[in-house]
Amino acid sequence: MNENIPAVPAIVRARFSDEDAARLVALRRDLHAHPELSWKEVRTQSRLEEALRALGVTDIRRVADTGLVARIPGTVTGAPTIALRGDIDALPIQEATGLPYASRHDGVMHACGHDVHATWTVGAALLLMKEPAAGDTLLVLQPAEEVGQGAARVLESGALAGVRAIFGGHVDRRFAVGEVVAQAGPLAASTDTFTIALTGTGAHGARPHESADPIVGLAALISSLQTIVSRRLDPAQPGVVTVGMVQAGSAPNIIPEGATLRGTVRATTTAARELLVGDVERLAQGVASAHRLSAIVRWDERTPPVVNSPDGAAWAAEAAARVLGADAVVPFGTTNMGGEDFAFYLERIAGCFLRIGAREEGGERIPAHSPRFQSAEESLFIGAAVLAECARVASRP
Ligand code: NI
Repeated sequence: MNENIPAVPAIVRARFSDEDAARLVALRRDLHAHPELSWKEVRTQSRLEEALRALGVTDIRRVADTGLVARIPGTVTGAPTIALRGDIDALPIQEATGLPYASRHDGVMHACGHDVHATWTVGAALLLMKEPAAGDTLLVLQPAEEVGQGAARVLESGALAGVRAIFGGHVDRRFAVGEVVAQAGPLAASTDTFTIALTGTGAHGARPHESADPIVGLAALISSLQTIVSRRLDPAQPGVVTVGMVQAGSAPNIIPEGATLRGTVRATTTAARELLVGDVERLAQGVASAHRLSAIVRWDERTPPVVNSPDGAAWAAEAAARVLGADAVVPFGTTNMGGEDFAFYLERIAGCFLRIGAREEGGERIPAHSPRFQSAEESLFIGAAVLAECARVASRP
C-alpha cells in the first residue's frame, strides 16, 4: 500500500479504494496548504467544485458567495433529502505545525480542521456516488463559519428547502481516531459578542471633579459583569461572560471622554442566553448611570446554541455504529462553550453535529485554534464514511 495513505481501522479503510484514498489525502493536503479566511474562500471553492466534478457530480451550485451546494440523486423517488455540511474557511493564525503541507499563506492557517471537514464532504460524495442513499443528498460546502455568518447565508439562499435532516461534524483531538460523539441535546454554546461604549466628560487628570470619568465606570462595569454568571445564572447551568478587550485613554494625566470594552457571552440554552444578554445590557445602563456616563451596547456575531435533535442524534449514532461498531460511539462528557454556526441549521432542521476523534495513537490533545493544531489524517476516512452513512440512514423512507 502507498506509504502516503495513513492507517485506519480496516473496516473503514475497506470502503475506499487505494486510488480514492490517495485522492482524498491529496485534496486535504492541498486545502491545508492553501487556507483562506472567511468570505475569501475563492480558490477553495474552485478546488472543491473541481473535486466534486471529478467524482461525476454534475448538479453543483455556487451559493453564499464562496460556498457550494451539490446534489447526488437518491435511488427511491420521493424519499427524503438529507444535507451533509462541511465548513471550509481558515483562521488568521501563523501555522507552527512543521507539516510538509503546512500553510503557504502567511498568517493564515487551517487551525480548526475545516480542511478536513471539507474533505469529509467530498469523501462522503465519493461513497454516495457509488452507493447512493434512498433520497437525494445535498453536499453543503459552507464558507465563513469562523465568523458565524456562513450558515445563515446558506439558509437564506433557499438551497436547503425541504431537507429532512442535516449532519456535520468537527474534528476533535480530545478523542482518538475511531471515536465518534453523536448525542442529543446541547453540544456547543451560543455566541454573542458585545461592544459597550461608555461616554463621559474628559478633564485634566489633576482635576477629576471636573470629569465624568469613563475609566472608573468601565472598571466598575467589568466587576459587575462578573456577577452575572456567579449570582444570576442557575449554578447548574453552564454560562460564560468574558471581557476580552478594553480601550481607553491617550495619556496618564488625561481623563478621556470615552472608554470601550468588548466581550463575549456563551450559554447552552435559549433561556440562559437571554438572561446573560439581558443582564449585560441592564448592568451596562445601570453602572453607566451610577457613574454619570452614557452607555451604548452593540451586539454582533450572534449564533444560537448547537442543540442536536433526538431523531438526528439517533440517526447519526446508528450511522457511526454501522461504520465503526457500537463501541465507537462515546459520550461527549463535557459541554463545548465554543460556538458553531451549524446551530442555525439545527434551529430549523432536525439533525446532528458530531465530534469525530482526530488524535493519532500517542498524540497530544492539542486544542483547535492552536498554531500547532493538526488532525490525524486517518480521521479523513472516518468522517467521510460516517457522514455518508448518516445520509443513508436518515433518508430511509
Ligand atoms: Ni471549527
